[in-house]
Amino acid sequence: MSKKMNRRKFIQSAASAGFLLNLNKPAKTSNSNKTVRWGIIGVGNRGTRFLIDMLKIDELEFPAICDINADRLNQAIDIVKKSKNYTPEGYSGNPYDYRRLLQRDDIDAILIETPKRWHARMSIDGLNADKHVLTDVPGAYTIKECWDLVEAKQRSGKVYMLAENCCYYQQCLAILNMVGKGIFGDTTYAECGYIHEIRRLMFKPDGSLTWRGEIERDLVGNIYPTHGIGPVAQWMGINRGDRFESLVSMCTSHGSLKEYAVENFGGDHPSSKINYAARDMTMTLIKTAKGKIINLQFDQVSLRPHPTTTHFYLQGTKGAFKDEDKEQKIYIDGRSKANTWEPLSKYIQEYDSPIWQRWKEQSADSGHGGVDIFAVYHFLDSVQTGKPAFIDVYDSAAWSAIIPLSAKSIAEGGTVQKIPDFTKGMWKNRKML
Ligand SMILES: NC(=O)c1ccc[n+]([C@@H]2O[C@H](COP(=O)([O-])OP(=O)(O)OC[C@H]3O[C@@H](n4cnc5c(N)ncnc54)[C@H](O)[C@@H]3O)[C@@H](O)[C@H]2O)c1
Repeated sequence: MSKKMNRRKFIQSAASAGFLLNLNKPAKTSNSNKTVRWGIIGVGNRGTRFLIDMLKIDELEFPAICDINADRLNQAIDIVKKSKNYTPEGYSGNPYDYRRLLQRDDIDAILIETPKRWHARMSIDGLNADKHVLTDVPGAYTIKECWDLVEAKQRSGKVYMLAENCCYYQQCLAILNMVGKGIFGDTTYAECGYIHEIRRLMFKPDGSLTWRGEIERDLVGNIYPTHGIGPVAQWMGINRGDRFESLVSMCTSHGSLKEYAVENFGGDHPSSKINYAARDMTMTLIKTAKGKIINLQFDQVSLRPHPTTTHFYLQGTKGAFKDEDKEQKIYIDGRSKANTWEPLSKYIQEYDSPIWQRWKEQSADSGHGGVDIFAVYHFLDSVQTGKPAFIDVYDSAAWSAIIPLSAKSIAEGGTVQKIPDFTKGMWKNRKML
């Protein structure tokens, strides 16, 4: 997170000084020269960072930008103005102004970087307006939103992709490659999660709640599942030969967020008196149609040093992989010494993913170790060439459905919840990535 803070400061100072690193360095996404015209919705921290990175891609244009915060909007418009010889149209005023942006016929694709609970609504509206949609995570918050998203995508025929950046970590792509080559045998079990103490992002300086704090106030359950479940679902062939069938979820009591509010804003502050719905640690066990089990964890309020914010473990009949504390270890039957973990680095050259190889150099400056912009490159490849999205609407719906279903399971004392088959049976014939 300290890296993030530095990046945020950099973006702010870079924008205000009118100086943007490497902005003129062109990059290509696919063999197509087709121009893609973007509408960007939400230019806070991530949206601005994406914009700066996307300005380096030479076949992109930015006719329109929307943000309810006029300062953020103007800053983003300035960034484009300084890099291109035109001024994007700005949309600001009320929360539904993005719909005016969607009415433009000079926009091919939208990037959604607004607070989480807006993602589904804006994606559905975007698809209904015949725009390709790239959205930050998660894709949706309710089962109805998941179905509406699937139906809107099917109706529109446009590209929809969830920008789950953790799927693009070099090690996650390499493990996907290895799974495809049968190195792990049959995969049977996985552990994953997002454990990242970000309480300070839940309060404004005066102690009132940010949108992140409001989500903690309102929602119980695994409210941010995709960073952990994304790579694991791809490794396990979810929606591609297998599917999530059911889940059960439990959580601890709530303590850390309230304690933080009392310590920082005093016991009399309204935020110190809220009974936050979200709990400290939430555990969810997911069972697949083929009988595999995934143990998914979520905690963004407990104090725990975290050199990485995600962790992964994969078990197969012929090998295992673990990624904790920045140390990635692997055991391969017949290659590793018996009962001994080896560094993944020993195998990375042999199994490095073609996806990583393709975009690693031009992504080096991007956020989260370069992976943030990978989603943009991959999405553009689909828009320009018609290839299916790497993280499609069925993935987005299945991964996001964990949010409401984990909440329901917890509310009912740990009941088993069926997970809808958003592919309606297509998972049986869809090929592994
Ligand atoms: N993938 C990742 O690693 C990662 C990391 C951090 C955040 N995120 C997600 O990215 C998204 C953006 O996060 P952020 O940190 O940039 O948040 P942010 O609060 O800095 O930015 C959100 C922006 O959206 C604007 N906005 C809010 N409602 C709007 C509306 N109705 N119409 C137009 N603009 C609106 C806000 O004014 C703000 O500028 C969130 O969903 C967050 O969960 C993803």
